[in-house]
Formats: sequence, C-alpha cells, structure tokens
Amino acid sequence: MTASVVSPFADRLDAARTRYAAARPNSAALFERAAAVMPGGSTRSVLDLRPFPFRVVSATGATMIDVDGHEYVDYLGDFSAGLLGHDPGPVAAAVTARLASGWSLGATHTDEVRLAELVCDRFPAIEQVRFTNSGTEANLMALQLARHATGRQRIVVFDGAYHGGLLYFGHGGEALRAPFEFDHATYNDLDSVARCFVDHGHDIAAVLVEPMMGAAGCLPAVDGFLPGLRALCDAHGALLVFDEVMTSRMARGGAQERLGVSPDLTTLGKYLAGGMTFGAFGGSDHLMAAFDPARGGTLTHGGTFNNNVVSMAGGVATLSEVLTGEVVDDLFERGERLRAEVAGVLSASSLPLCVTGWGSMMAIHSVPGPVRTPGDLARADPVLTELVFHELLHRGCYVAPRGFVALSLAIDTDLAARFVDAVAAVVVALQ
Ligand SMILES: Cc1ncc(COP(=O)(O)O)c(C=O)c1O
Repeated sequence: MTASVVSPFADRLDAARTRYAAARPNSAALFERAAAVMPGGSTRSVLDLRPFPFRVVSATGATMIDVDGHEYVDYLGDFSAGLLGHDPGPVAAAVTARLASGWSLGATHTDEVRLAELVCDRFPAIEQVRFTNSGTEANLMALQLARHATGRQRIVVFDGAYHGGLLYFGHGGEALRAPFEFDHATYNDLDSVARCFVDHGHDIAAVLVEPMMGAAGCLPAVDGFLPGLRALCDAHGALLVFDEVMTSRMARGGAQERLGVSPDLTTLGKYLAGGMTFGAFGGSDHLMAAFDPARGGTLTHGGTFNNNVVSMAGGVATLSEVLTGEVVDDLFERGERLRAEVAGVLSASSLPLCVTGWGSMMAIHSVPGPVRTPGDLARADPVLTELVFHELLHRGCYVAPRGFVALSLAIDTDLAARFVDAVAAVVVALQ
C-alpha cells in the first residue's frame, strides 16, 4: 500500500499510539533526553518506534520490564541475537570467570581456539574461521575474500536483502552501502540470477544469499532455489556465500545442514556468542589460506575486538554447554508448530494478515498472502502492521514493529500458547 492511500486502520493506530504514550511517561521523558543527544533518540535504527520507544530496565528469561513498570514477554529475542534468553546461566558464568583473568589483551588466548574448533566442528562448510565484531563485518570480509579468490569484482545480491548496515538492498531509507559492484536479482527466482550471469558472468565473484530472507520478512527459499544457486555458481566459477547470521539457528550445523546445500563461504553472527558482540566468516581451508601469511596469503583482516575475551568465552559456553543438536532441533520444531497455529488464527479472520517463516523465526504481514518474494509485500499496509504491533504490546507481547518474531529458548509451551491467544485477541479486536 502506498503512503498516499489512506489505510482503513489509520484512526485505530492513532488511538493505539495515544494509549501507548499515556501509559509510558517515564519512557517519554527519557526519549526527550535521548533525542537531544542521539538523533532519533536511539543508536540502532531498527529500534526507532512511534511515538517513542519504551526503555528497558531489566530482563530475565523471556521477560523484559520497562521504566514505567510494564512487563513484556519478549517474542522478538533481540532480532534473533537473543536466542538463549536474557540471562543464560552458562554464558554468565563463563564470561564472569573469564573477566577475573583480565581483558583487553592485545594478544591471542585460548578461548578463541576453542571457539574456532567448536564452529568448524558444527558447520559442514567451515574448515577455517575468522571472528569479527558483527555480521556486517563478516559479510564484508567474505565478499572481499570472494573477490580476491576469483579475481572478479561483481556480487549478485537479492532485492530487499539485509546483510548488515553497509549491505542493505531494500527500500527502507538511504543506507550507506559498501562500494562493491552489485547485480540485483529476485529471491526465489532462479531465472533472474541466470540473467545476471548472462550479463556479467565472467566478472561475478559471488552470490550472497540468506537461506531464508530474514529482515526482508522471513521469506524461506522455495524448493530448488538454493541448489539452483549452487549449480549456477559452479557453472560460472563464482562462489556461493550463505549469510547464516540469522539462519544458523535452523539446525546444529545451520540451514546448510538442514537443507543439504553446501556454500563456499558462510557468515555467522547474532546469538552464537550467547548475546555478546559477534560475527564470523569461514570456508574451506584452501579459501581461508588467503589470510595466512605462512601459506602465501596476502589479505589482512583487522579488528581490535575480533577476539575479545567476553565474546569468545560466551561463544564457547553457548556452543559447548547450551546449543546441543537436540536443543536446536527442538526450538526449530516449536517454531514450526507456533507458526502453523498463528497461520490458522490469521487465515480464519477477515483481516488481510498472513504469517511467513521457517523454524523459530516468523513474520506477520499485513497482506492476505501468499508471500514468496519481497515484491509480494509491496501491497502491505504499514498502518495495519504497526497497529498489530501496538495491540500485541498492549497485551504484553513484544515483537518487532514490522511483525518479526524470533523465538528464544525461554519461550516455553505456555508462552507460545500465550502468543497464539494474543494474536487471536488482536484479530477479534480489529475485525
Ligand atoms: C542476515 C543478516 N546478515 C547480517 C546482519 C548484520 O549483522 P550485525 O547487525 O551484527 O552487523 C544481520 C543483522 O540483522 C542479518 O540479519
């Protein structure tokens, strides 16, 4: 729906925002202070919220409490980085213990070795890995490596994709984009990728793709799409880069293991250090040798905090003590069940709402569906999307204003049922 079309839900949204503001005087006052010193009152654009964001004072398990005393069940899970919940014991213990031995080392240490072993053991396509501070950096380094390895310049990306603050290909504002040469294709449309290879095949270094588009709206790859990308890359000598910053939660060895498609390079981030700052990229021993001077590698990879002791210790605890294959599979199944239940509620209503997703991540959209590509969301009503957010929040359920949900381990069966009930109540209230 374009901005010029007045949504039938506009008045309801105004009322919901007024109700929200009236109940949060302390967050309102803090917003005024924040906006004076941070543009928009925040330092992470995705947290911008009208009329102002609520501010959290404490969080445990699946619960967050704001400065006005409101309690929310957190179904957003820090946009997937909070997979372990708010205070996972093993991570807290490992980080606390590590801090007792000092930090800011400016030297190598043991936890980074252990974490690299754990990552390589888990992800089939990663024989060697390097750590970064964010998923954005991981993707930038992977693309630089792909260009170096192939001696080519161009990168195929998908319209609507988000691969980090410097690699955003959507239409939601003017983003600073890394100065690579990009070819744009449509997700779930192999022909559009084949056309990129026809036009520039000799100079395409890599295809960068998420096994499910996350920020673009939890749009899973249709059958055959990712194997088709693998075949196209092989046929044209390009590298296939899986951005598994979000989707690595789909199985112990990531979406690549669940789907049986092997990329050349994999990027990771979000939850893997138990909620601490994290990113990583890796691939075959042969490709990663580019960073090894002893093997003739000439690429450098800097980063003061790449091996910071907090993230390394948090990562070791997360992978060795918390995220067993069983735990990861169970979360995947819980997500599948929850999405099916939400889909049932939405499809029984007369509202133009649907849900998409895979495993423990999903998104509620203000279109009737089906939704396969970001283009299918062009008709979405942003007013209804935000209204659903406010109505869920009013019922104590926190999801992203754009409708995104990422389950954490702290969302048990009862909390999942509570979410379905809340969605059902919102639907009744809005019909
Ligand atoms: C798929 C994907 N790639 C990369 C990133 C960037 O990660 P970071 O925010 O750690 O830079 C994100 C963040 O949301 C993401 O969802």
